[in-house]
Amino acid sequence: RFTPTPQDKFTFGLWTVGWQGRDPFGDATRAAIDPVDSVQRLAELGAYGVTFHDDDLIPFGSTDSEREGIVKRFRQSLDAAGLKVPMATTNLFTHPVFKDGGFTANDRDVRRFALRKVIRNIDLAVELGAETYVAWGGREGAESGGAKDVRVALDRMKEAFDLLGEYVVDQGYDLRFAIEPKPNEPRGDILLPTVGHALAFIERLERPELYGVNPEVGHEQMAGLNFAHGIAQAIWAGKLFHIDLNGQSGIKYDQDLRFGAGDLRQAFWLVDLLETAGYAGPRHFDFKPPRTEDYDGVWASAAGCMRNYLILKERAAAFRADPAVQEALRASRLDELAQPTAADGVAALLADRTAYEDFDVTAAAERGMAFEALDQLAMDHLLGVR
Ligand code: GCO
Ligand code: MN
Ligand code: MN
Ligand code: MN
Repeated sequence: RFTPTPQDKFTFGLWTVGWQGRDPFGDATRAAIDPVDSVQRLAELGAYGVTFHDDDLIPFGSTDSEREGIVKRFRQSLDAAGLKVPMATTNLFTHPVFKDGGFTANDRDVRRFALRKVIRNIDLAVELGAETYVAWGGREGAESGGAKDVRVALDRMKEAFDLLGEYVVDQGYDLRFAIEPKPNEPRGDILLPTVGHALAFIERLERPELYGVNPEVGHEQMAGLNFAHGIAQAIWAGKLFHIDLNGQSGIKYDQDLRFGAGDLRQAFWLVDLLETAGYAGPRHFDFKPPRTEDYDGVWASAAGCMRNYLILKERAAAFRADPAVQEALRASRLDELAQPTAADGVAALLADRTAYEDFDVTAAAERGMAFEALDQLAMDHLLGVR
């Protein structure tokens, strides 16, 4: 029970379990881990795959022959462990050259270098079988108002994504992009700060069908937003291409806690949504095992992410299957929400006296919605007492 298997499609970034605990105030608390060891440990824990930034696998500045050797060894470890690489991404934030961004750096040379770095890793991603390419623009932003002309920076952002889309189409790659929003950190303010901003941006691109979103639990919550609502809108728009699962306690720095820590109720509704809406992509964990932990703690933290997902999946299924819940959903008129408001058109609506002239506004205003009873049933299921 609650034991993950590859069918659950749990994936982990190499940079998550590989995080050494360096933060703005303190040095690394853990030694570096060989990606090949992470692959093996994650497979033992029941994961389906791993993901990586170019530099997680191939240290920045490696020669071509070093790169070849690293990729060969990594591929052998994947084959041995039976792990997939469904997604890859680019590090456009660690090296000082990206201090003012990659796609939207004011410095044009940096923008051209950034695009070449991405394209190089796209080739590798496709070689390794990835279907999704994530773009998190952590350094695309500013600390002060005059430093960035945001409208012009968005032109450059669009230009970058359009060029990457053109490249992928020209190569005949079966690869789609997933934009990852975040409101701030490391920049004071980051462009495309929320799922909503990213969805609107995508519609301005030349090939919008190639782009979706990769929302991260904590990033929407850093902005005080309801994560499950953002995910629901992304699904509604056909744009949930990938997802970063982790935990966050309210509006503060990016905590990247293991999934299930932080806002547990939002985690419950998120799993309920993913499991009932038919999301078929990887359940990708992007978390940071706290720097208090040694490697035993790291693996416990990774196992906890998957275990919490499976517990919540069971709790959400029990909630949906409970006859008392189905009754409560009817009492809250969820079935009525599913009916079109005026399916026979505006003329029929105008002709219908019961809709306005004869409508009993007072009686309708007095009807309770019974949401509290429904929510308490959810709470009982979440806490395992029902
Ligand atoms: C964060 C971000 C990053 C990105 C990752 C992909 O926590 O600030 O989630 O971890 O997801 O780097 O590029
Ligand atoms: Mn994060
Ligand atoms: Mn992320
Ligand atoms: Mn992260």
